[in-house]
Amino acid sequence: MDTAPFSLLRILADGRFHSGEQLGRALGLSRAGVRNLVGRIEALGLRVIKVRGRGFRLAEALDLFESDVLAAGLKKISPELRVEVLDECPSTNTLLAERAAAGAPHGTVIVCEHQSAGRGRRGHSWVSVVGGSLAFSVLWRFPRGTGALGGLSLAVAVGAAKALERLGTHGVGVKWPNDLYCEGRKLGGILIESSGDALGPSAVIVGIGINVRLGTQTHERIGVPATDIASHSEAVPSRTAVFVESLDSIAEVLARFSREGFEPFRKEWLERHAWQGRRVALSQAGRRVAEGKVVGIAEDGALMLASVDGIERFHNGELSLRPG
Ligand code: ATP
Ligand code: BTN
Repeated sequence: MDTAPFSLLRILADGRFHSGEQLGRALGLSRAGVRNLVGRIEALGLRVIKVRGRGFRLAEALDLFESDVLAAGLKKISPELRVEVLDECPSTNTLLAERAAAGAPHGTVIVCEHQSAGRGRRGHSWVSVVGGSLAFSVLWRFPRGTGALGGLSLAVAVGAAKALERLGTHGVGVKWPNDLYCEGRKLGGILIESSGDALGPSAVIVGIGINVRLGTQTHERIGVPATDIASHSEAVPSRTAVFVESLDSIAEVLARFSREGFEPFRKEWLERHAWQGRRVALSQAGRRVAEGKVVGIAEDGALMLASVDGIERFHNGELSLRPG
């Protein structure tokens, strides 16, 4: 991977002017080389202001990972985790799945400054913005089989929601089976991909995307009603803080889920359930498979709908929940 644009970004992240000469010296580049890198930063969607005689500055200061704060934070959390911090990658889930297939240990975590081709469920894309999104994935090896992982995305959503609440985000809700919501808009998503036998053991990649601060252009790119932590907090936490707090909380959830399954998370999930009592339609591959009123979730994380046929249970996977 080419890390050069991020070396420049780390200098420009303060939002102040830096002369071409100073940047060239710091990066070992000619003036033309600096200009070339500035062009590549602009291609990442960032606006760079250029003033003759003063140099370059970002239109807005950028929240990149603070390496010392990150190192100190990671030291305090589960020693089971091995965290790799990258500048850029297409998808932390895809990369970690490759590493898992090559034997990466339980507890491997990949987080990146910028995820350029993030994935959601059912082949959808997940949009990230440099300095405003958080994207990371955790490899967890379960002794149980893939068949015993029902409810895992819900348990992880509880872990992420509690972390954001601790950081001061108001009104975090969950939507079955894998979303975080705030006031009817999507704040984050969870993508769980598993491999292994139905009877065990299994290797699970838990991917989490959280919007920390989205600009107007990013909202347009996303195309569905989205929101970010900044819109629901008095003091916006740094991406570093959001990462450390959510990773800590999710690792605790994964360890407990491994021992006890979904049941201990059910109550906390229902307390945050943004769609309780609403009329909804469930669809699969664009086809409506059921409609009814959401009455809750079962001990295994199945969605319970009251329909004309009585109470029906639906397990996650490829189902999509929309207002009915
Ligand atoms: P459903 O609501 O149908 O259960 P979902 O909301 O979990 O599914 P996916 O099918 O998993 O959606 O696909 C991801 C969805 O998230 C897409 O609709 C996409 O437009 C949207 N999306 C992509 N990036 C972001 C983002 N950064 N913030 C909020 N939503 C996003
Ligand atoms: C969804 O809402 O459908 C899930 C979105 C999951 C996005 C995260 S970001 C980190 C990880 N890497 C990916 O490519 N996707 C997940």
